[in-house]
Amino acid sequence: MPIGGSGDQTGNARRRWVIGSAWPYIYAVPHLGNLIGSVLSADVFARYLRLRGDDVVFVSGSDEHGTPIEVEALQLGVKPRELTDRMHEIVKRLFELWEISFDNYTRTESPVHREFVKEFFMKLYNNGYVFTKEDEVPYCPKDRIYLPDRFIIGTCPYCGYDKARGDQCENCGRLLEPRLLINPRCAICGSKPIWVKTRHWYLDLTKLEDRVRKYVEENTALPENAKQMSLGMLKEGLRPRAITRDNKWGIEAPFPGANDKTIYVWFEAVLGYVSATIEYFRNKGNEDEWRKYWFNPDTRVVFFVGKDNIPFHVILLPAMLIASGDHT
Ligand code: MF3
Ligand code: ZN
Repeated sequence: MPIGGSGDQTGNARRRWVIGSAWPYIYAVPHLGNLIGSVLSADVFARYLRLRGDDVVFVSGSDEHGTPIEVEALQLGVKPRELTDRMHEIVKRLFELWEISFDNYTRTESPVHREFVKEFFMKLYNNGYVFTKEDEVPYCPKDRIYLPDRFIIGTCPYCGYDKARGDQCENCGRLLEPRLLINPRCAICGSKPIWVKTRHWYLDLTKLEDRVRKYVEENTALPENAKQMSLGMLKEGLRPRAITRDNKWGIEAPFPGANDKTIYVWFEAVLGYVSATIEYFRNKGNEDEWRKYWFNPDTRVVFFVGKDNIPFHVILLPAMLIASGDHT
């Protein structure tokens, strides 16, 4: 489903676009369903716009971080990076065979992405949108691991679905936190978690709520379901969300005092659309060209993503871009 964009889509002037398709997690090789859902439709759209004579940058990449990949690697007895190196090559090759017309299919381990993400989060920090606090987080005493995100499941407090994950309910799409789950349990062994104290760094979404609401309300190109879901979440109010995780695999949190933490995979992966544009133009020897695409109100940005990706693309990414101070 296409998400985003701005302005009307008529007229014959040459237009500038960033087209993104959801970055696949690469613990499994994408099947045809993934292809059709977000990659093929984006490809058709990008090809159409190019034929029309528009400026198009079509990007995506492998979403490599996060606990599922870390655990998969652990089970295979390899380092996460070895696993993702191998999987990235396979997936990249598959998209080549399918002749998807990506201008850049990259990965979240790319040095350009890693550096961009760290600098970007320091901007949010310096602009006053990041605070730190000590909190209790779930931990599995049997597996001896922290249970962030997909590693804890329980009943959704909103819709009652009994396999909601720690970061999101797959059934109703609402963003969650482990704390909100009713009857939480470890996703690996089913044990009841214990709660241990740890310090985390949070994105102050409450401060950004009004500006995000304005963005969503004024965006005439959002599909109705994405708009309704997002307005519903905004109505319930945006709560601060932890940016950091206690995992080893991921991009190191750049905040002072956070050097043993990594950044929550969703917070960095959505920035991939920007870093992939930077990398694309850098490789072409045109270092500053990406700014034209990301800092220009005339650019139309369109994402092709699945339903459960909506909050991350329509709320979190715009919130972060606003907080960076470079976008209004
Ligand atoms: N990997 C995610 C999924 O499969 C999608 C990430 S999209 C990104 O649901 F933009 F954040 F990378
Ligand atoms: Zn739910």
